[in-house]
Amino acid sequence: MDHSNYVIDQMISAKSIAARVEALAEEISANFADTNKLIVVGLLRGSFVFISDLVRELDLPVEVDFLETSSYGDSMHSSREVRILKDLRGEIEGRDVLVVEDIVDTGHTLNHVLHMLQSREPKRLEVCALLDKPSRREVDISATWTGFEIPDEFVVGYGIDYAQRNRNLPYIGKVRFIE
Ligand code: IMP
Ligand code: MG
Repeated sequence: MDHSNYVIDQMISAKSIAARVEALAEEISANFADTNKLIVVGLLRGSFVFISDLVRELDLPVEVDFLETSSYGDSMHSSREVRILKDLRGEIEGRDVLVVEDIVDTGHTLNHVLHMLQSREPKRLEVCALLDKPSRREVDISATWTGFEIPDEFVVGYGIDYAQRNRNLPYIGKVRFIE
């Protein structure tokens, strides 16, 4: 199949995303109410839009850091091997940590990242994922908070790409290939 021609069908509107982000931030703020500082760790690059909206809704003292793992490349298939391309700048030992991910798909990325971060002995380690595709799971892992559960579709927008494109769409759409 020629993967160069596709259209994007809207799946989740910008308005729905904004409402959900606000609700998630409220839950997270309440849950971490006693923290002296929450370290919010964004997984690059897919979470950059989500994390920027989420942190602005958090009613907590927050520090932002980033981690980059190897990704799908330009393919639509998940590689099971996860490598760290860029590590955190700060220490997380004894800290409250929230990992922010765009999509939990097979679960391999999150599994790897959580094991690595857990070995640094944070006080708490939780995850907020914008999207979850439970039907694709290969590792038994889940986020503490999830924005939306979606079916097994390839999605783009709101930070999420297909071959590095469409990250700038304000909504989440599914990719549909055409002749
Ligand atoms: P996992 O390791 O299979 O859970 O893959 C998670 C990562 O794969 C996500 O952080 C995304 O970067 C990428 N990914 C999974 N599903 C999609 C999708 O539908 N569109 C774009 N990227 C995706
Ligand atoms: Mg990702």
